[in-house]
Amino acid sequence: MKNNLSIVTATLNESENIEKLYTEIYKSLKNTNISWELIFVDDNSTDDTVKKIDSLQKNYENVFLIRRFDKRGLSSALLQGALSSKSKYIVFMDADLQHNPKYIQNLFEKIKNSNANVVSASRFLTKNDFLNKKRYKASIIVNKILEKLTKIKFTDILTGYFIIEKDFLLQNINKLSKTGFKILLDIILSSKENVVFREIAFNFEPRYKGKSKLNNKVLIDFIYLLLDKYFGKLIPARYIIFSFIGLIGAIFQIFIIYALFQLLGFNTSLFLGIIFAMTLNFTLNNEFTYSDLKLRGLKFFIGLSKFYFFCSFGALFNFLTAKNLYENFNTFYIAILLGAFVGSVWNYYMNTSFNWKNN
Ligand code: GDD
Ligand code: MN
Repeated sequence: MKNNLSIVTATLNESENIEKLYTEIYKSLKNTNISWELIFVDDNSTDDTVKKIDSLQKNYENVFLIRRFDKRGLSSALLQGALSSKSKYIVFMDADLQHNPKYIQNLFEKIKNSNANVVSASRFLTKNDFLNKKRYKASIIVNKILEKLTKIKFTDILTGYFIIEKDFLLQNINKLSKTGFKILLDIILSSKENVVFREIAFNFEPRYKGKSKLNNKVLIDFIYLLLDKYFGKLIPARYIIFSFIGLIGAIFQIFIIYALFQLLGFNTSLFLGIIFAMTLNFTLNNEFTYSDLKLRGLKFFIGLSKFYFFCSFGALFNFLTAKNLYENFNTFYIAILLGAFVGSVWNYYMNTSFNWKNN
């Protein structure tokens, strides 16, 4: 009897890789007892990716396509594909052939013949020719740190090439953060109490055609994912980044007041310092804290005005809280800190609800 396998791959402008991906998977599985389906999840590619997938679908009945027009992101795309898959096991892989399909069979055998829920293809289990030394070194260090944090044994939790039991994924799907590029990390961190995780070795190859989609946002999403996983139950990851940026603004404000004080006097430099800090904070928050809801063009300036408005009240509440605490309880530092906390929660809440709102 044939074993069924679902292969899920996400695409963003990968037109030149589609056909090759299919034929390579076909070649590597044709002499096995695995029957498979290939599910593409495309996020509104602007090249011919969808056309290429359509023509594959005309020729082969094991090809499926999910198209999304208003969403972006590798992890969420892969999960979407997984939800539509029909087999007991799901392989996740990239569409650019950096993940050579010849390892699919090894992944499949390993998960089937062990008690593992997840088996991944690791770049670092054996020595490989390193494609990009800098990135690899960074990956190895991050992997080591994460290994210490999670107390699970692995060499590469950042790989995007792995097989998972569908039931196991579904059991844990509500716990996932779903942001960013690193879905394996998300899955393992969300299920670390009960996951059995194994690895096989593989050689990460050069991209066949097209360009990598890795950019700064991917790095921010990565930090986000970790914050959410470790503190998310207590404090939203967004609030941590928002407060951190607030702190940067406050430091700049002090410097500006200090620099302009002699020239312009206290009140004017205070005013300029506050305006500068709020503008800086708005710009940084727009770039990092709310990068998924980034305001551009005219919306940027409307958002900035709203930010000034909300934060003025934030400053007032900050002031009133600290003043009251100081006058009534005579606690200098606690008064300042609690004042700042009340102000930042207000600013965060108002801006998340009415400025960078999800709609
Ligand atoms: N649908 C969709 N939406 N697909 C996306 C998106 C997106 O927003 N962003 C990227 N992809 C697809 C690409 O089209 C490709 O098939 C795959 O995701 C990986 O993207 P690359 O741009 O090729 O990523 P990479 O080579 O830098 O990263 C790979 O290596 C890492 C190991 O360091 C990925 O495999 C990572 O998962 C892996 O961790
Ligand atoms: Mn790639």
